[in-house]
Amino acid sequence: MIIGLLKESAPETRVALLPEIVKDFIALKVEVFVEKGAGENAFARDGDYQAVGAKIVEHTKIFEQADVLLMIQPPQKEDVNKMKESQIWISAYNPLWDTELVKLFLNRKLTSFSLDVIPRITRAQAMDVLSSMATVSGYMAVLEAAVKLPTFFPMFMTAAGTIKPANVLILGAGVAGLQAIATSRKLGAQVQVFDVRSAVKEEVKSLGGRFVEVEGAIEDAAAGGYAVEQTEEFKKKQQQAINEHAAKANVVICTAQIPGKKAPLLLPAKAVEAMMPGSVIIDLAASTGGNCELTKDNETIVHNGITIIGQSNYPAQKPADASRMFGKNVFNFMKLIIDKEGGLNLNFDDEIVKGTCITHDGQIYNERVKALIN
Ligand code: NAI
Repeated sequence: MIIGLLKESAPETRVALLPEIVKDFIALKVEVFVEKGAGENAFARDGDYQAVGAKIVEHTKIFEQADVLLMIQPPQKEDVNKMKESQIWISAYNPLWDTELVKLFLNRKLTSFSLDVIPRITRAQAMDVLSSMATVSGYMAVLEAAVKLPTFFPMFMTAAGTIKPANVLILGAGVAGLQAIATSRKLGAQVQVFDVRSAVKEEVKSLGGRFVEVEGAIEDAAAGGYAVEQTEEFKKKQQQAINEHAAKANVVICTAQIPGKKAPLLLPAKAVEAMMPGSVIIDLAASTGGNCELTKDNETIVHNGITIIGQSNYPAQKPADASRMFGKNVFNFMKLIIDKEGGLNLNFDDEIVKGTCITHDGQIYNERVKALIN
């Protein structure tokens, strides 16, 4: 089998496999074709890939000869149209959001896997690209907030007086939120946290954050560890509590998401306007509408003296380690579809293979995507 590693387009800087992971694939008797310059923005040179046994090729050769086409970002429509029926697409292409792309793969009877829907079961933890990238985002969000804030994060006791620690409010304590709590605490801030899943309460506490409890949240064990839509009554109660905490916060980090849906609106314009001037809001949910009403995706705006940063791709700002984590996840997943001779083995009896497969042979395999499209 030949894996074709494609070069990402700007502004993406990551690459799906670094040379160290390519080496691991080659040890499994798999050939790897790397598109010229694919790793350069993640500081992996063509020569580094060649040194571990990969072939450097042009983009068109990958489409002509590779069995698996691999990248991080979703494909361009033209790329899907160029694919042969025998080829397999693997990337994180957001099928719960971009159903048009799913239909394109489906109508062309192509096999496609989307790494962002890997089942959230223990065995798949080492393959979970969303967790890896959320770790980077949670960390980077806090660092950027600390730089933009006109005050310090830690408490300082100096001859010129005592500086109070920053107050950080974190909306959503999933993987990104938990990392944001840990990073904020390391920098000495005080941290308040909202979430609708009671399971995170202990994790928040153990990282040194304060979990603000709002009673009446709906939880669904069938949602695979994810949050679900809340009732209007709960939303109203939660809103009031968030508004009170936002007014005292120097930094708000927004991370709340509901898979396949618009991000919940948790910080309306009015709540932002009641915040202190100089405060910073980082909205990691920007690409699905944002938790803050004023967020603009991929933009930084200043509203009433409050800086609002809509940023959904912090991993691209840490391309070396983000690529390292992504590639390791890809390798752990792909081991499930590679046989002892380095050939392809699509075993749909494995729930991880089936759950990550979006389209195959004119059918939709992932149940959540199927429910969305049918
Ligand atoms: P996410 O990115 O979908 O959401 C972020 C957080 O926002 C979640 O904690 C969610 O409960 C919260 N949220 C959603 N709506 C909200 C609202 N209206 N108000 C306040 N908070 C709201 O979630 P993420 O980070 O991808 O992971 C969620 C959980 O999945 C993890 O905490 C973990 O328990 C589980 N998980 C399991 C894995 C495995 O077993 N393989 C791998 C990764 C995560």
